[in-house]
Parts: sequence; C-alpha cells; structure tokens
Amino acid sequence: MPASPHTLKTTVGTLSLDNPFILASGPPTASGDQIRHAFRLGWGGAVTKTIVPDSMEITDVSPRFAAWKGEDTGLLGFENIELLSKRDLACWTGEIAAIKKEYPDRVLIASIMASPDPAEWRDLASAVVDAGADAVELNVSCPHGMPERGVGAALGQHPHLVRGVTHAVRDAVEVPLVVKLTPNVTDILPVAEAAVAGGADILAAINTVQCLMGIDLDTLEPLPSVAGAGTYGGYSGPAVKPIGLRIVSQIARELPVPIMGVGGVSRWQDAAEYIAVGASAVQVCTAVMWRGAGIVRGMNEGLAGYLAERGLSGPGALRGLALPRIGTHEALSRDASSRARAEHPERCTVCGRCVTACRDGGSGAISIGERAVAIDEGRCDGCGLCALVCPEGVMVVRRG
Ligand SMILES: Cc1cc2nc3c(=O)[nH]c(=O)nc-3n(C[C@H](O)[C@H](O)[C@H](O)COP(=O)(O)O)c2cc1C
Repeated sequence: MPASPHTLKTTVGTLSLDNPFILASGPPTASGDQIRHAFRLGWGGAVTKTIVPDSMEITDVSPRFAAWKGEDTGLLGFENIELLSKRDLACWTGEIAAIKKEYPDRVLIASIMASPDPAEWRDLASAVVDAGADAVELNVSCPHGMPERGVGAALGQHPHLVRGVTHAVRDAVEVPLVVKLTPNVTDILPVAEAAVAGGADILAAINTVQCLMGIDLDTLEPLPSVAGAGTYGGYSGPAVKPIGLRIVSQIARELPVPIMGVGGVSRWQDAAEYIAVGASAVQVCTAVMWRGAGIVRGMNEGLAGYLAERGLSGPGALRGLALPRIGTHEALSRDASSRARAEHPERCTVCGRCVTACRDGGSGAISIGERAVAIDEGRCDGCGLCALVCPEGVMVVRRG
C-alpha cells in the first residue's frame, strides 16, 4: 500500500509536527544555517544547541569526540566532551526569529541552560520565547563539564532541583515546556515526576550516558585525549538506544505526559520502536553527525511505509502499542518454554560457533554430527545464545 503523504503528521502535546523526526540539541543545530538546511531536507523540528546566558563562559577543548566502531567501521557508540553553544544570546534570538519567519510550519525548540539561579533561567526562557521559539527545552542533563559548575546533570539528578527550575521557567513563559532528562540516575521516575510537578508539558529522554570511551594502550592516554589527559564524557549513538527505550517506556507506563524519545535513533526502525514504547516523536543527534542530515528522507519514507503496511493512520496510532507487553520479570511466563532448532541446515558452514558458545556459555547441548549441528533436546534450556552467535541464521529458538 503506498504511504499517504499525511501519514507522518503527529502531535507532541500541543506541538504539531509534519513528521516525528526532530534534530536534537547538538552540533547539527549549532547554527541557524544548519537548522535551515535540516528543514529543507524535511526534518519536522529542531532543538537548538543549548543556549546559555552571555555571562556563562563556554570554551571547548579539542579533540572532543571518540568513537567505538564495528568491524565494518559502522558506528556503535560515540563519546563527546563538548560544552554548550558558544554563540551569544543576541545571535540566537536573531536566528530564532529569522528561521521561524522562513519556516513557520516547522517546530523550533530553544534548548537553554543557566546557572542554578532561577532568575537566569527565567530571563533566558523569556528571551527565546519573545524571539519566536515554539517551545523551550530545559537542559538539566549534560553529564560533562557543566556538572562541575553545579548545573547540567548535577541539577537533573535531584528531583527537588528539577522541580524548582522547571517551576521557575513555567512561571515565565506560556509555550510548551520540555524537560530533557539525564539517564545518569538509578530511578528515572522521581526525576520525571518532579519535572511534571514543576510544570513540564513534555519530557525528552535521554541525554548522553556518562562514560569513559577507552584508553590508548600505546600512550595510556584516555580517549578522547586533550594534550595527553582526558575526562568523563557523554555516550550516544546506537549503543545507548536500549537505555533510551528502557527509560522512555518506564516513564510512559507511569505518567500521562508526552515524551520525545532520544538516544541512538539512526534508522526509521529505531524511531518506530521509541514510538511503540510511548514516545510521540524522536530526536536525533549522533546519526546526523555521522551520516548527515539527509538521513531524514529515508527515515520518513521507511516509517511511512511501515505505518501504511500495518494499517496505522499515523505515528499516534503506533504510540505505546508495545507497552502492555512490558512488565515485571516475575510476570513472565514459565509455562511457554523455548528450544533451539537448526531450521536452515543447508546454510550451515559447520563453523562451530554455536557449539563453543553453548559449551562455554550455555548448557552444552550442541555438537557437530555428520557435517551438521546436532541438538540434545534434553540438555537445551532454550536460552537463545546459539541463535545470537550463529552468523548464517541456521539456529533459531522456537516455543514448544
Ligand atoms: C557532540 C554532542 C553535543 C551535544 N550537545 C548537546 C547540547 O548542547 N545540549 C543537549 O541538550 N544535548 C546535547 N547533546 C545530546 C544529544 O542531544 C542527545 O541527547 C544524545 O546525543 C543522544 O542522542 P543520539 O544518540 O541521537 O546522539 C549532544 C550530543 C553530542 C553527541
């Protein structure tokens, strides 16, 4: 079934979007020209690089990125130790006004961060809203550099501080208020609840996960190395998607608040997964840095095709459909047991990976017989490891 051009229209609270793809705050939204370029390519919205008061000193280090790449050089995980926008407030208010004039139908969200003083947050929020921003996103979640100054994730890890700053901005502006949450907490719910209690209309989850990408074993320098030294940074890209999905679903199960899913979205399938666990839209940063803002075309096409194929009228119809299937471990069935099967023996190259994995990490149920794998049904406990390590798709795990 061909996808209707209207299929992707969606809403996040009172914000209406042409499609659920929003550029996240970061290098792809560091300037007005980059945001215009993204809007020309078809992004439904954009969140500016985080704007700070002119009094807040922002000096970046270099290099400030490190990447964990797969064997085919595809990106697995990405670390950054970048700070916030280096452009002053007057530059941003001018850009916001100009972009909204050129692209009135796209959603432009201003990300802000100020010192712990609520008055600074209020002033900044009022300035970007007066310039024409459709919504304000509070960055209480940057995990590097800023926490050392008592802001960013240092605020976002404490529910009472999140509530206080959200409440201060809520009093100052009428537009929808987004609070962007840090994943660097043990339990997301107290912080999410505090943001909502403070007046947040929308939650965005997640900002980056605090990390240390690695050590250069020749020099023993941490990565990225800034003149031989390193620090803890923010982890993003495909590797953090499972953390983002967990957090978005945990919020969606408990709170009736619209959510923007962020973290590791690089294909339309990732967006569909976030929506299925309760997100109303997704934000994307690292995938755009890696492959360019043009990826939105394929993501729009792919998501529209998927929705049409499933007979869903739009992203809103997919929202939360997977949630009833996510519950406690205790509630999982112990009756339906699964077993390994060699379902496509003709593809088997007898590489032995399933045998080794099952012997050293499973129940020792697989052996190589007459140039084919043999499964001891009595020993197999259906853990699923063999299907995951098999490079040819021979091994599968089926119920019963
Ligand atoms: C280099 C870089 C800079 C970022 N800068 C900001 C920022 O200024 N404000 C903010 O709220 N998030 C910032 N982020 C976090 C992203 O908006 C996003 O939450 C995170 O990277 C996870 O999404 P992703 O996997 O699509 O990148 C930055 C991320 C990266 C990689």
